[in-house]
Amino acid sequence: MVERVLARMASLQILGRSPVGAYLRLNEWIWDRLPRSVTARRPVRSFGHLVHSLVRLQDRQMYLGTFFLRNRPELELIGRLSKSKGKDRAVKIAILGPSNGAEVYSIAWAVRSAHPEVELRMEAVDISAEVVEAAQKGVYRVGRSELVDEPIFDRMTAKEMEDMFDRNGDWLRVKPWIKEGIVWRVGDAADPGLAAALGPQDMVVANRFLCHMRPLEAEECLRNLARLVAPGGLLFVSGVDLDVRTKVATALGWKPVPDLLEEIHEGDPSLRASWPHRYWGLEPIDKGRPDWMIRYASVFQLGASPQGQDGTTDRLRQGAGEATSAGPSSPSRDHRSSRE
Ligand SMILES: C[S@@+](CC[C@H](N)C(=O)[O-])C[C@H]1O[C@@H](n2cnc3c(N)ncnc32)[C@H](O)[C@@H]1O
Repeated sequence: MVERVLARMASLQILGRSPVGAYLRLNEWIWDRLPRSVTARRPVRSFGHLVHSLVRLQDRQMYLGTFFLRNRPELELIGRLSKSKGKDRAVKIAILGPSNGAEVYSIAWAVRSAHPEVELRMEAVDISAEVVEAAQKGVYRVGRSELVDEPIFDRMTAKEMEDMFDRNGDWLRVKPWIKEGIVWRVGDAADPGLAAALGPQDMVVANRFLCHMRPLEAEECLRNLARLVAPGGLLFVSGVDLDVRTKVATALGWKPVPDLLEEIHEGDPSLRASWPHRYWGLEPIDKGRPDWMIRYASVFQLGASPQGQDGTTDRLRQGAGEATSAGPSSPSRDHRSSRE
């Protein structure tokens, strides 16, 4: 009922303009000026949820935005779990939607620096051929990235940059020990042939792209990604509508991983600061909810993988040594970037 009323409000136009849009802009202006002690109060937070429900009805678009070392607690947990999985064998990690590579190199750097004994095999799959090509090169200009329109090094210290890159003038090249063991592919996370193409993974990382899909599309994609995870393996998924993630996690019986749960939730300032006025914004943790663990966990342990995967499809091509095009079956989305 509330959703229907909100949907009608969101579609309202007066003289070709949306009064809801103007209202939300004013609301945001006021919200941004309120102290945190006020926005954290329960009635104000409830109002924030209502605003966010309205915002989530607006159109969505895909972005390329990313950062190196974007969520430190998440990187720490990937390191810890790689160590326990990788005692006597290589650890397989698939990263979906990694944009220009910052996320993949951050994971490789974090795991290999903290746990040099761990052998990593990584698969990186993005739907945009342009970012896969850039990611594969691993060469970045200092300052703001034009390709993803973000200050991608803003979350790194000078020492970390020295550790991760070889510098030549204005250019930064990812060091060979970080680059090794990564296969880059152009592909669609929603492709049902992906599980067969990649094989079972110890960890699957699917961060900050499902929120740009409509909820039903995101749900279907998330269910598909679950098929990539080996039985007992781990799924890292953030930057997704919490209702979608909670629904799929509950339906498929995923176990939330409690380690660093709150730290990871708070670990990406651009997501938390965007709530409630951006659809990708992340609400504050509410421990009063009976489902809070499953709602706010970004990491899950999965049970047995669903059956029924068949062969590879032409939507997923291996990009070893070359960045292949997404092919005719790739959806043409508007790849603009932002702070999300
Ligand atoms: C906002 S960026 C997030 C980058 C990175 N995961 C991060 O968290 O910093 C979203 C990325 O997801 C990619 N993407 C969008 N839809 C996809 C899909 N269906 N399959 C694979 N990649 C996708 C986009 O091309 C883009 O590079």
